[in-house]
Amino acid sequence: MTYQPCSDRYKTMEYRRCGNSGIKLSAISLGLWHNFGDVNDFENSRNLVKTAFDNGITHFDLANNYGPPPGSAEANFGKILKQDFRGYRDEMIISSKAGYTMWDGPYGDWGSKKYLISSLDQSLKRMKLDYVDIFYHHRPDPETPLEETMAALDLIVRQGKALYVGISNYNAEDTIKAISILNKLGTPCLIHQPKYSMFVRDPENGLLAVLEKERVGCIPFSPLAQGLLSDKYLNGIPNDSRVATSGIFLNENHITAEKIAKISKLNDLAKQRGQKLAHMALAWLLRDARITSVLIGSSKSEQIIDAIQSLKNTQFSTEELVLINSILNN
Ligand SMILES: NC(=O)c1ccc[n+]([C@@H]2O[C@H](COP(=O)([O-])OP(=O)(O)OC[C@H]3O[C@@H](n4cnc5c(N)ncnc54)[C@H](OP(=O)(O)O)[C@@H]3O)[C@@H](O)[C@H]2O)c1
Repeated sequence: MTYQPCSDRYKTMEYRRCGNSGIKLSAISLGLWHNFGDVNDFENSRNLVKTAFDNGITHFDLANNYGPPPGSAEANFGKILKQDFRGYRDEMIISSKAGYTMWDGPYGDWGSKKYLISSLDQSLKRMKLDYVDIFYHHRPDPETPLEETMAALDLIVRQGKALYVGISNYNAEDTIKAISILNKLGTPCLIHQPKYSMFVRDPENGLLAVLEKERVGCIPFSPLAQGLLSDKYLNGIPNDSRVATSGIFLNENHITAEKIAKISKLNDLAKQRGQKLAHMALAWLLRDARITSVLIGSSKSEQIIDAIQSLKNTQFSTEELVLINSILNN
């Protein structure tokens, strides 16, 4: 049957302006790092995208290497777009990235013009798209001149293969340099994608201040610390969890007694706020006006619905914020 998106999909979602740009992003965005590869159930992947779109999520984040195998998340997303979203491309913000190892040899990794241009061409073919909305350099390259990498992003926009560009995993210092080069080239940096959650606070050490000053958007990835910031690991490792099913980027060694003690205290506070811990973890990021959107992952449709619940309460009292910091720092 032909998919008909929910007609009131834009009623409850919040849309936030991305830095100093014309683009607004849904406060919750869906990332396709896990659960969209050839190793996953395609019908489940398809339902995840539909559930997200039905609930007002407009932004879908990919990268050349998402899978496994690398590239398969883009190919599967392309299939989903073709099957279900034919008339809806203009309602979606689709991003991809290059920067991590993608193919053998010296031209399939890091930040050369050669790699970025050819990788995006491959991504567009896999997704069967003419352009992506946002193209990111996925991680800084210590060897390639930043001028070359940023010039490649600028060229990609001028070629019409991306509408906007962003950077990911860049520290504050390199971010200032990248923004300045892009400004001179006339292709402003739309957005930065850092790892940021209650458990990973690095962006607070300068990066967020830079983004605020430069009026560049911010979309934290792994806002639930890959699922740790939920109640799911409190009583062991469920069979359907990322630790049990993937175990590559999140494994048993990450679930220490010390972490569980913190998660348990955070869970108690969330309950006092009338939220689940997953809601509170997303709300805690979204309370900050510098955050454009939080980039979640999801293995089940219910988790997407759940994430949206976090928007009901993104206010925190000073006492709550102090308590959260004391739980995290002890
Ligand atoms: N730029 C970069 O370098 C970079 C790096 C990593 C990720 N990203 C982007 O960020 C996106 C999100 O990353 P992530 O998947 O690590 O995000 P996350 O939101 O921190 O973790 C998502 C995982 O947590 C679990 N989960 C989600 N909602 C839950 C809930 N309500 N209750 C309990 N568990 C829940 C699910 O795993 P299970 O159900 O399987 O346990 C889900 O797949 C990626 O898809 C990608 O687009 C970017």
